[in-house]
Amino acid sequence: MNNGRWYKLEDAENILSRERIYLTREYVNPGMASMFKMLGFDKLWAHSARGDYIFLEDGRKILDMTGGNCVLGLGHNHPRILAARKHMAQENRLEICKSFLSPYVAALAANMANILPGDLQYSFFCNSGAESIEGALKMAEKYQGKKKQGIVYTDHSFHGKTHAAMSISSMDESRNCFHLLDGCFRIPYGDAHALRRIVESRTKEKGESDIGVFVLEAVHGTRLIFPPQGYLKEIRRICDEYNIVLIADEIYTGFGRTGYWFAFESEGIVPDIVCYSKTFGGGKASIAGYTARKEVFIRAYGAPQDSMIHSSTFSGMSEECATAIEALNIIKDNNLVERSADMGEYLGSRLKELGAKYSKKVKEVRGRGLLWGLELYPLGSKARSLVEKVAPEKLPIFSKLTGGVVLAELLHSHDILAYLGFSRRNLVVFSPSLLIEREDLDKALEGLDEVLAKNWFVLVKNFIGNILSR
Ligand SMILES: Cc1ncc(COP(=O)(O)O)c(C=O)c1O
Repeated sequence: MNNGRWYKLEDAENILSRERIYLTREYVNPGMASMFKMLGFDKLWAHSARGDYIFLEDGRKILDMTGGNCVLGLGHNHPRILAARKHMAQENRLEICKSFLSPYVAALAANMANILPGDLQYSFFCNSGAESIEGALKMAEKYQGKKKQGIVYTDHSFHGKTHAAMSISSMDESRNCFHLLDGCFRIPYGDAHALRRIVESRTKEKGESDIGVFVLEAVHGTRLIFPPQGYLKEIRRICDEYNIVLIADEIYTGFGRTGYWFAFESEGIVPDIVCYSKTFGGGKASIAGYTARKEVFIRAYGAPQDSMIHSSTFSGMSEECATAIEALNIIKDNNLVERSADMGEYLGSRLKELGAKYSKKVKEVRGRGLLWGLELYPLGSKARSLVEKVAPEKLPIFSKLTGGVVLAELLHSHDILAYLGFSRRNLVVFSPSLLIEREDLDKALEGLDEVLAKNWFVLVKNFIGNILSR
């Protein structure tokens, strides 16, 4: 049952704001529609976007400091990405046909082997981050055989929302009501000895342990958790010692975000399989992938009869792969990895100044490359001490509110879009495109300065006022 209306493409482009809310509530997700309404996002109708800006239908121009939560490393609608896609369409290129080997898949895989270190060589391309994690897990399982099926992951991890990916993610709120994969073991992030301990505890006398895989984000992007010095090297050593496949999830952090092509490069290690997505698609293509070391791939899928064990209908679509080839070229041609490190240093130092200036509000400033966040204290110091004394269990509620209040003020009063850490609602994150200009960083920093200068009472009043004004 629907509202009796059939939508053509031009109808979809001209749906009025009220109808959009109605259709979202009735046919997409009622809870999500209410949440958008509560945060005031139902008032924002994006018309177009270019670079680091989103243009609204009412003429407002929003500075996008989210970089599409790290999908938009190249910003919105990069002209070279658009041109690559237009070229594919104009030339009527073969999009999908399983009977021909794709030149785009071949070139893209060769480029990935080029930018990745060591003998990371064989690639598989798919559509989403979670799908690349599933594929990597399957390859590791096939490589290790039945006796080493245990998977270790950390308490700061997000690898996606499909069943296996969710089973190795620490986001309990989004996984608790589901049946999870057996044989997954959680250890504390940053503690290499915890990996050794779990492996040894699962080693039978004189035998090998049943742990076959360790999945790690070298930088845990969605909560901005960085590894202690030496952690990655030690992890690599332990994985070698106990014959464990090390899978690096670079879906959030890959392609320059942290000032390296891949975050694990900060300690010069080579994982066994690397998963990636987001910026890989140039902001247009829904593409992800994994690349495996030669030895791992060949033992798992090297035999002809095993070569199609893992495949997918939409794997290696020409336009998606062509877009990713162009995305990698844009990053290389513009030295965006180095640019991310340089601009990130500037952004980080200015954010740290703000952190010091508003030390009663800002608990910590942390980041690397163009991925930075401000962790806020819940409430002002006096109110916080009061709540801590009277009802400490209520502190997480204020913690959640804190980030939302700052986010809304930045957006509604300064036309700056930021976002909040995943399950860290007091963490305000900036991860703009790797092409962001210095003057736009300054604009965001000035806006943040003005927001932090306001007291909590004013910020909360504005937040509530915004909700009530609708
Ligand atoms: C580190 C990491 N891994 C995996 C995923 C899952 O990717 P997708 O949402 O494309 O399935 C995400 C998504 O944000 C991510 O940040």
